[in-house]
Amino acid sequence: MKIVKKIQEVRKLVAEAKSAGKTIGLVPTMGALHEGHFSLIRTAKKQTDFVVVSIFVNPTQFGPTEDIDKYPRTLDADTAGCEKSGADVIFAPTPDEIYPQQNLSWGNVWVNVEKLDQPLCGRNRPGHFRGVATVCAKLFNIVQPDAAFFGQKDAQQSIIIQRMVADLNMPLKIVVCPTVREKDGLAMSSRNRYLNADERKDAALLYAALQEAEILIAGGLRDSKKIIGEMEKIIKLSGRTKIDYIDIVNTKTLKEVEQVRGETLLAIAVKIGSARLIDNIIVDCN
Ligand code: PAJ
Repeated sequence: MKIVKKIQEVRKLVAEAKSAGKTIGLVPTMGALHEGHFSLIRTAKKQTDFVVVSIFVNPTQFGPTEDIDKYPRTLDADTAGCEKSGADVIFAPTPDEIYPQQNLSWGNVWVNVEKLDQPLCGRNRPGHFRGVATVCAKLFNIVQPDAAFFGQKDAQQSIIIQRMVADLNMPLKIVVCPTVREKDGLAMSSRNRYLNADERKDAALLYAALQEAEILIAGGLRDSKKIIGEMEKIIKLSGRTKIDYIDIVNTKTLKEVEQVRGETLLAIAVKIGSARLIDNIIVDCN
């Protein structure tokens, strides 16, 4: 496995793989890798021949008061995990390599996925999805993969990227992979390491609330307000949790639905201590 920092270098390796007849998979990440990321890499390796993992803490998706400076950077452990999971190349560029134009005065090109970037995480993170869509567009242009692999854990992100690829006719497939969880149901996340022992216990309440909603829906409840009310009760079992949002939305439009019918996304964001955690499930019912 090779580790490269320059666009030219990763392009050269991809070109060689392509000329040997290999298909290319890309797994975009911000590092601090865990089993969730490794599962994407393993899936990528099953579905494509040559897997590029990008590790880049993307400055344009962090707000001015967010955690970019303290975001964990663990390149040595990441490298070992990528190798074990079947990656062929790590592309770990510097911010200047990706955004040299930041130094120029005539402005930047941005990808805005309108409307879908407004609800859920968009409400309290203005500009976040513009940064995500733009860096993913750039990574797709740099690596030119046949397929790129994303996690269901960041449901809104996956939906936005699928929409960008469809609307801009980008020639690659987006594969969305299931959320990998800890034993108690907590979705794995690089931000889980911000939690102390008590907060870590409380963090299991997010998935507990989602599971309760799933049970209520399976039992026939369709009223979103009532379902959200029951989920809130579970989150509030701890005094340490602060709900950012609990929303029930259509999976295509991300618009709130009053009744759960058809494919529906139940999404939750909760602050515990200094960590903001997100999770979701998709249900399909009539
Ligand atoms: P990051 O948070 O590092 O996540 C990289 C990828 O791993 C995303 O597609 C995310 O959904 C997936 N992932 C994270 N936790 C997961 C879990 N528990 N189970 C399954 N998949 C999981 O998301 C980003 O980085 C960035 O926004 C990025 C797309 C790289 C753009 O900068």
